[in-house]
Amino acid sequence: MHTELAKKLGIEYPIFAFTHCRDVVAAVTNAGGIGVLGATGFNAEQLEVELNWIDERVGGKPYGVDVIIPTNYEGKGEQDPDKLLAIIKAAIPQGHRDFVQQLCEQHGLPHLATDKPVEERLSMTDATSTPLVDVALTHDNCKLIANALGTPPEHVIKQVQDSGRMIGALCGSAKHARYHVEAGLDFIVAMGGEGGGHCGEVSSIVLWPEVVKIAGDIPVIAAGGVGSGQQLAAALALGCEGTWSGSIWLTVAEAATSDAQKERMFSATSSDTVRSKSFTGKHVRMLKNKWTDAWEAENNPDPLGAPMQGMLTSDATRRMREYPAKSQDLFFSPVGQIVGTMNETIGAREKVMEMVHGYLDSTERLTSLLPDD
Ligand SMILES: Cc1cc2nc3c(=O)[nH]c(=O)nc-3n(C[C@H](O)[C@H](O)[C@H](O)COP(=O)(O)O)c2cc1C
Repeated sequence: MHTELAKKLGIEYPIFAFTHCRDVVAAVTNAGGIGVLGATGFNAEQLEVELNWIDERVGGKPYGVDVIIPTNYEGKGEQDPDKLLAIIKAAIPQGHRDFVQQLCEQHGLPHLATDKPVEERLSMTDATSTPLVDVALTHDNCKLIANALGTPPEHVIKQVQDSGRMIGALCGSAKHARYHVEAGLDFIVAMGGEGGGHCGEVSSIVLWPEVVKIAGDIPVIAAGGVGSGQQLAAALALGCEGTWSGSIWLTVAEAATSDAQKERMFSATSSDTVRSKSFTGKHVRMLKNKWTDAWEAENNPDPLGAPMQGMLTSDATRRMREYPAKSQDLFFSPVGQIVGTMNETIGAREKVMEMVHGYLDSTERLTSLLPDD
């Protein structure tokens, strides 16, 4: 599995693990893959703490940091986070606020047990994400930056490349892959619509080779529905340089996922997810539930765009996180269709090794199919 990309990054296996959990980043990196920390939920100070923690545990091995700077969003161009916050808040209709409150009350979602007012925070914008990139680049072991929801701004691409790191971005269609190529990115993560989190419609088996062809010399990492070494072998067979998974790391032993959430994932089938705009304003694949159904219902409001919908629902998602057992009907649970095969908790290292063995089994099987002479 010594793909050019793996050699360039100095990793043993081209297994990229996207996760919001620092323990999983460290565990996968130490197992020979590479952990990529989703940084969007952190502010710059918090990210500094997380990366210091990881640095202390990976012994010089590489990891990545992922941010979300969408190509289009309300207020784009405004670099002052306070002004941007005011623009976004003003764009949220009262009817939507009332609908969210009703939904939470109807399902008995408790309020946060705190007297302190909850800080309204924006994420998924240029103004909030570029400080995260600044922090990541002060950490020597951070060898790559990835961006979701669009091609990163030119100044960020230059900043990362000038620092000697690689910068790439996710894409869910051929059109977006072309934008990434034009921008001169160092890698492209082609994510099929079966994947968890923000995703497009095109399935992995169609998208991966399509993007490989468009990307030319730029390495393509295959994402969306990868949970086994057999799928890793399929991705490499289709010309990709590695795989990038998110869902499977949600239920490993090191993940900070609550027990209630893990149980929901263990009992879900591959048909229990839906692409819904109801939490962030852009399509996210997640477990289908009463929340996603309510936003689909005919007489209810349609989700707002990004980042308004994310701001509108941020209090509800915090309450869900605080009371996972009391919010099973509503919980924001991004996960891909691979959830149907996620049935037990194993350690992250064990998962990496399981994928390596699965890959070897696949290649042996393919070799055995060749004629003897
Ligand atoms: C819980 C969850 C949160 C995610 N958040 C992000 C994110 O913040 N940034 C990002 O680039 N991708 C995010 N993704 C997508 C992953 O990077 C990855 O592309 C996707 O999980 C691959 O498909 P899979 O879920 O089938 O493995 C998220 C995925 C999940 C499951």
